[in-house]
Amino acid sequence: MTDTPRLGLYIHWPYCAHICPYCDFNVYRPKGDTDALLTAIMKDMTAWRERTGARRLSSVHFGGGTPSLLEPGQLSALIDHAAGLWGLASNAEIGLEANPNDAARFTDFRAAGLNRLSLGIQSFDDDVLKRLGRDHNARGAIDAIRLAQQVFDEISIDLIYAWAGQSLDHWHEELKTAIATGAGHLSPYQLTIEPRTAFGKRAERGERLALEPDDAADFYALTETVCAEAGFAPYEISNLARSTHAQSRHNRLYWDGDDWIGVGPGAHGRLGSHSGAGRYATEAQRRPSDYIKAIETAGDGVIAWARLSAADELAERILMGMRVQTGLDRERLIALTGFDIDLEGAQKMSELGLVEREGHHIRLTREGRALADGVSSELVPALDD
Ligand SMILES: C[S@@+](CC[C@H](N)C(=O)[O-])C[C@H]1O[C@@H](n2cnc3c(N)ncnc32)[C@H](O)[C@@H]1O
Ligand code: SF4
Repeated sequence: MTDTPRLGLYIHWPYCAHICPYCDFNVYRPKGDTDALLTAIMKDMTAWRERTGARRLSSVHFGGGTPSLLEPGQLSALIDHAAGLWGLASNAEIGLEANPNDAARFTDFRAAGLNRLSLGIQSFDDDVLKRLGRDHNARGAIDAIRLAQQVFDEISIDLIYAWAGQSLDHWHEELKTAIATGAGHLSPYQLTIEPRTAFGKRAERGERLALEPDDAADFYALTETVCAEAGFAPYEISNLARSTHAQSRHNRLYWDGDDWIGVGPGAHGRLGSHSGAGRYATEAQRRPSDYIKAIETAGDGVIAWARLSAADELAERILMGMRVQTGLDRERLIALTGFDIDLEGAQKMSELGLVEREGHHIRLTREGRALADGVSSELVPALDD
């Protein structure tokens, strides 16, 4: 038997005032179609209600892009629509990814019903912010954090590290500044160079923009040490929290392989499990204009609604489940998919000191966390379907 999966709602807002050179999320400069896109997202939510049936939402997450470009009234209309269709659990997490430049709206965001804010801070160093092509400065970052703390119970800070030329001392200072703000949650991301971005093109021409993986591993180790000393636990590979309460409950739903609705251009969703009627993966039209058109003509933004193969579901559940520090619950995995991890692969990783077992859980060790994806893929068994 398995517990009833939670149901979350992800709303993708694809517009950004400025496109950062490293970012390969589904992002665009605003196109003046905000009202049409909001209407389309609402209709898409209504179409999704048919798929999920009557279930309560445990979380709503506004991601992007930059959803903090939305007016508080537009956010509350989306939240109210979701509440009307599904209902919100009494302790539902309602979070938003915010750009520090939008700090003037934070108080009204709280009044609109949001209770958690993740801030795209990236760095507290003006030179680094310039190098990363950000359109805010260090003063603006600190001011946004202060303001968010006055208004929200839980705030989180996104940081980017391991850019070429960064020293461990510099990263240590960045972490100390982030910790000193008093924020309860940190998401430090290693800079990744994505092919279709401005950084990707510069890298193709031979420019070195990010550190080599071996050097970046030292930065990862430093992150865990410095944060642990300050009382932060790395409850997931890129996420550290001062307390269980400060953890992101919406993200937890992805790692635990529960269900989520994905609306807005390019949003992904997941519903069900192999042990039930099958696990379905959905993807919405990527371009905002195509998304709006699809909903106007077919009443639905989903372009792909596919039943995952047993092998794909298993691989996804293992790779996501291993990201959390408590590890993958093998009993739950077997109940949901009918399959266990690859025991030979697990033995090999355990002998290398990269995973450890406790009861029916298997989890990455500290060394294993620095090589998470490679180690976790060794646990995925080969299936014939
Ligand atoms: C979708 S953004 C939302 C925040 C908001 N749009 C902003 O940038 O202020 C989520 C986070 O992903 C991280 N990120 C995006 N692209 C990245 C990359 N190529 N390498 C490392 N981190 C990246 C950044 O830390 C960013 O804050
Ligand atoms: S990092 Fe944030 S602001 Fe920059 S392009 Fe990506 S989503 Fe937009």
